[in-house]
Amino acid sequence: MADSRETVNHHAFVVGFPIKHSRSPLIHGHWLKTLGIAGSYEKIEVAPEDFAGFVANLKSGALGLCGGNVTIPHKESAFRLADATDALTDELGAANTLWLEDGRLKATNTDGLGFLANLDDRRPGWDRDAKRAIVLGAGGASRAIIQALRERGFQEIHVVNRSLDRALELAHRFGPRVHGHGMEACAEVMQGAEFFVNTTSLGMAGSPAPTLPFRTLAPNAVVTDIVYVPLKTEFLAQAEWVGLATVDGLGMLLHQAVPGFEKWFGQRPVVDQSLRELIIADLKE
Ligand code: ATR
Repeated sequence: MADSRETVNHHAFVVGFPIKHSRSPLIHGHWLKTLGIAGSYEKIEVAPEDFAGFVANLKSGALGLCGGNVTIPHKESAFRLADATDALTDELGAANTLWLEDGRLKATNTDGLGFLANLDDRRPGWDRDAKRAIVLGAGGASRAIIQALRERGFQEIHVVNRSLDRALELAHRFGPRVHGHGMEACAEVMQGAEFFVNTTSLGMAGSPAPTLPFRTLAPNAVVTDIVYVPLKTEFLAQAEWVGLATVDGLGMLLHQAVPGFEKWFGQRPVVDQSLRELIIADLKE
């Protein structure tokens, strides 16, 4: 009789379109090597029209893969095509981590967890006594972050976005503690806030960031960014200039990868300085 363990493989993937610039293989490759696990993690480029077929082949076992990460533009489709999800992921409507379990495709979203773990790691106590948070941007990353901040007990979460309608839609979706604003309200809502996060692409190469009144935030405020190229973004530099504590976005990328690795390869990896340095060196190339 065949041993059922024979059907368990340790081959995982990251799927996206395009996928060339993904750093995920470097992260998982590092953990596989340091933990001595005989597994693999590869990039797979799948166009939107082919994604449902990819998922069907994954579920049937035809691809010989045990699960993987999902990135732009497939996160919403991955959520819809999965057989099982959890409540937090249902609220987001988007998944970034898939795994096969008992013949079913399970899906979750680890962005919020990665966001929180980065802050807990780099700035322990960052959310102690914090009441008001400013979230710049209203896209997919913003949703996961709003959810995470709400979970940590922030009383007021102000979403500020270029398109007011998207900010208002999130306020409506997430309930009374979440408020939506257009960019013109940014200076006003920043006053006295204890937390600020940029979830937009502002500050990435070719997308200059506006100057914001960071000096009006609470003196103990923490400022973070999900952009990690460059590591010290324009927003983080502005915040540092007025003496505020900052946390860069690289750790979110590293921490969001942990739950997937544990599912596919059976061991919990650590986010340490050697991994950070490996990715920083790669970003400089
Ligand atoms: P993601 O899923 O990565 O969050 P997204 O859903 O495309 O990406 O959302 C991108 C966010 O960055 C949005 O809040 C977007 O603002 P709009 O909703 O007005 O489009 C914001 N953004 C992108 N480029 C911007 C720019 N040049 N100025 C201001 N906001 C910008």
